[in-house]
Amino acid sequence: MQRSVRGEVDRWTLPTVWLHTIMLLLFIVMFVLAEAMDWTHGSTKGAIIGVHKSIGVLIFLLAWIRLLWNLNHTGPRPIGTKVQQKAALGVHHLLYLLMLVIPVSGYFMSLAHGRSVGFFGLFTLPSLMGARPAMKETLENVHAFLAYSLLVIASGHGALALYHHFVLKDETLVRMNPFSAKRS
Ligand code: HEM
Ligand code: HEM
Repeated sequence: MQRSVRGEVDRWTLPTVWLHTIMLLLFIVMFVLAEAMDWTHGSTKGAIIGVHKSIGVLIFLLAWIRLLWNLNHTGPRPIGTKVQQKAALGVHHLLYLLMLVIPVSGYFMSLAHGRSVGFFGLFTLPSLMGARPAMKETLENVHAFLAYSLLVIASGHGALALYHHFVLKDETLVRMNPFSAKRS
């Protein structure tokens, strides 16, 4: 099995580019839904939380697929000095960690509240723990902290990608754009 994550190639594979775009859109939806939880009540709020949980489970599955795909398909090295390349890779690793850990924290938060986690009404995930009222608040804080950390880090990452495009005028953004020709 090939395990070269970044090498002498100049483009990302199509699944990498599309997974990046689809997951970016899903994360935006997740934060909009999280905001909507604050100004809704009753059954509407319940439905929003239900969709939030389902998309969260989907993100968790897609994150694993994306991680395994990218571990087995070489991508281009970040453009920049050695230090900048290391920093960019460090940020990518951190984003993967958050993509995988945030859904887990949401899952345990729901269980602590004594609520199950379903997937678009198709099935319900097994409950690995019973209701834990004493842990509710801590888990809520952990979930919120991790989610807003991702928001800050991903925004910085996105802003740097735009800086590469508009100021440095290199290929960084173009090669991650699913609608550009610069892909394989
Ligand atoms: C995958 C990425 C996810 C992101 C980015 C995300 C983000 C957020 C954010 C920002 C909040 C609001 C926190 C606050 O301001 O206090 C929230 C709340 C919540 N999330 Fe997530 N979440 C994700 C996944 C999940 C998953 C997988 C579940 C459950 C399985 C889940 C369950 C919840 C619940 C129950 C709430 C609190 C609802 C309430 O106010 O009662 N989340 N999430
Ligand atoms: C704000 C919008 C975003 C833009 C404009 C953007 C742009 C980019 C670009 C241009 C690259 C390629 C870097 C290179 O070729 O060296 C990249 C890679 C990457 N981005 Fe983003 N990104 C955004 C949001 C996100 C989000 C929300 C996440 C995850 C939560 C994320 C995770 C990653 C990861 C892990 C990589 C490495 C390639 C991979 O493994 O898929 N990005 N991004």
